[in-house]
Amino acid sequence: MPTDPRLTRHAAPLRALHWLTAIAVIAIYGVTYLEDLFARGTPERAAVWWVHISVGLLLIALVALRIPVRIFGRNPPASRQISRPMAIASHAAHGLLYVLLIATLAVGVYLAFLRGNAVSFFSLFTIPSPIAVNRDLARQVIELHEWLANALVVLALLHAAAALAHHFVMKDDVLKRMLPERLAP
Ligand code: HEM
Ligand code: HEM
Repeated sequence: MPTDPRLTRHAAPLRALHWLTAIAVIAIYGVTYLEDLFARGTPERAAVWWVHISVGLLLIALVALRIPVRIFGRNPPASRQISRPMAIASHAAHGLLYVLLIATLAVGVYLAFLRGNAVSFFSLFTIPSPIAVNRDLARQVIELHEWLANALVVLALLHAAAALAHHFVMKDDVLKRMLPERLAP
């Protein structure tokens, strides 16, 4: 992934995809807490998973767009205002965020097919399942999906806290690199 030393912030498409991904991850995780508000078998409970799966498909599209943007787009080098060990650590954390995101999404789709859920995008279209329903296996896969989702959210929270610490404590340009010029000149 070549970098362009003239750039001091991430390209606009990557910034847009970053913030849309962050909002979608918070929404998809948050919506799972609504499940317990509704009794089993009610349409409201089914709607929770309809939203969860629909936002999941949206996230898959965001990540699928982001990978080529990241690989083939023009990227800035690491901030000159942070040390080399810090740049290596943040690079590793970003790599792990991508891995957890992709793994959670892939296991989520597999889980939906195993449970026999309709994998639909807000009922606009439905992806037919290529595999047979297997509720026993689904019970094990849900544990893996939940573990990956929790790891992703914990790491994203640490990542957000680090970004805020860079901005307000270390007062460097790390957060600005992910914001538009008119918000953070
Ligand atoms: C970053 C993305 C995702 C996050 C953070 C996430 C998170 C979660 C969490 C926390 C649960 C609850 C587990 C439990 O209560 O035991 C869950 C369940 C589930 N997720 Fe996801 N998920 C994501 C993506 C997806 C995707 C892409 C799909 C499918 C297209 C999906 C399908 C499901 C299904 C079918 C369940 C179980 C529903 C049920 O118990 O009836 N998830 N997810
Ligand atoms: C689920 C939520 C989030 C995910 C999955 C996520 C993921 C990522 C990833 C993978 C990168 C590396 C750049 C790239 O290759 O695209 C990145 C960069 C960045 N993120 Fe996030 N992020 C999330 C939320 C946040 C939040 C809430 C903040 C701020 C409070 C934030 C601030 C930043 C900043 C400042 C960078 C640029 C760091 C640099 O240039 O060295 N992120 N994020």
